[in-house]
Amino acid sequence: VPDSAEPIRIEVRAEQPYPVMVGTGLLDRLPGLLDPTVQRVAVIHPPTMIDLASRVVRQLTEAGLEPTRIDVPDGEAAKTVDVAATCWAVLGQAGFTRSDAVVGVGGGATTDLAGFVAATWLRGVALVNVPTTVLGMVDAAVGGKTGINTAEAKNLVGSFHEPVGVLCDLEVLQSLPAADLVAGLAEVVKCGFIADPAILDLVESDPAAALGPGSASLRELVERAIRVKAAVVSADLREATSSGSQVGRELLNYGHTLGHAIERREQYRWRHGEAISVGMVFVAQLSMLAGRLDRATVDRHTAILSSVGLPVTYPADAFDELLATMALDKKTRGSTLRFVILDGLARASILAGPSEDLLRAAYRAVAA
Ligand SMILES: NC(=O)c1ccc[n+]([C@@H]2O[C@H](COP(=O)([O-])OP(=O)(O)OC[C@H]3O[C@@H](n4cnc5c(N)ncnc54)[C@H](O)[C@@H]3O)[C@@H](O)[C@H]2O)c1
Repeated sequence: VPDSAEPIRIEVRAEQPYPVMVGTGLLDRLPGLLDPTVQRVAVIHPPTMIDLASRVVRQLTEAGLEPTRIDVPDGEAAKTVDVAATCWAVLGQAGFTRSDAVVGVGGGATTDLAGFVAATWLRGVALVNVPTTVLGMVDAAVGGKTGINTAEAKNLVGSFHEPVGVLCDLEVLQSLPAADLVAGLAEVVKCGFIADPAILDLVESDPAAALGPGSASLRELVERAIRVKAAVVSADLREATSSGSQVGRELLNYGHTLGHAIERREQYRWRHGEAISVGMVFVAQLSMLAGRLDRATVDRHTAILSSVGLPVTYPADAFDELLATMALDKKTRGSTLRFVILDGLARASILAGPSEDLLRAAYRAVAA
């Protein structure tokens, strides 16, 4: 796909359907996503994205709107009730009404906060996400989950609030630190295993190309992963409780049960994608030990994830602590641990209540 390729448009079939645009030079489409009644627009961004946020502000001003830039702390430090309160104060002072809007410009942490502010201001105003990380584009900015952290744990407070549009401008990835790009690829590879194996072929054919911020390969990977997320959330907008072997939005949690426990044990010094990379290898092995998945597909997890520089091992002596944390995972229902596993490529199902012995055996695949 040449760089000048027309942006592609992926529709999320929410209560109010909305487009996710993927391409380059997309910022001029932002005003068009907003209702003509919108007047004031808060542009929420971290310090690293000040140039992009200023360009967004210029676009909005030229379109006759009244933008207000809100500079919030970088990354996870933005996802606090204090930062949300600062944003509410700015909106209050600028006289934001029900018919005004919020734009989130940044990684997943920023769009989670911006979404939460949009969801809560006057019980909900229009939101546009401009994700600037791979993870933001393929995951956080799409699907309507917004939220902040508390002192106890991540993402405990939040709300479903769908955006009116999402602009994934691939040019912004040029400045993304390599480690963040790699971490985002973990979610892309996840989409390959759970739903779209063409993603796996693409990474395998040229892992280095997948890591190039301007490459046609990365563009296609991002596009394919967004299609997977859009399809899953369109079918299950509010993460209806899955039961039995039915997999709805829970599908997206492939690799996440162990991944979340690793993130916690690392006190969030590991990136999310790094932790779920190990989590996917673990759960692939679990799928195999449960008699559901073949050895070659398990090995394919390790090979693909390590080919783009993601970790596939974790300390052997950490298992007991990780198991205790998994048992506490908020996604766990009752006292039974649930894992999204694979019966084959793009064939996910649920494994509920595996024995500790089975989990311990699966952990050997990642134990270093
Ligand atoms: N809402 C959801 O459905 C959902 C899904 C997955 C993850 N999340 C959330 O997303 C967050 C993680 O997102 P993330 O990995 O994007 O992290 P992040 O938002 O913390 O961004 C990572 C770092 O990259 C910097 N950055 C972002 N874009 C850049 C760019 N283009 N150039 C240079 N630097 C840039 C940021 O300033 C930050 O320091 C977590 O808080 C997680 O809970 C939400």
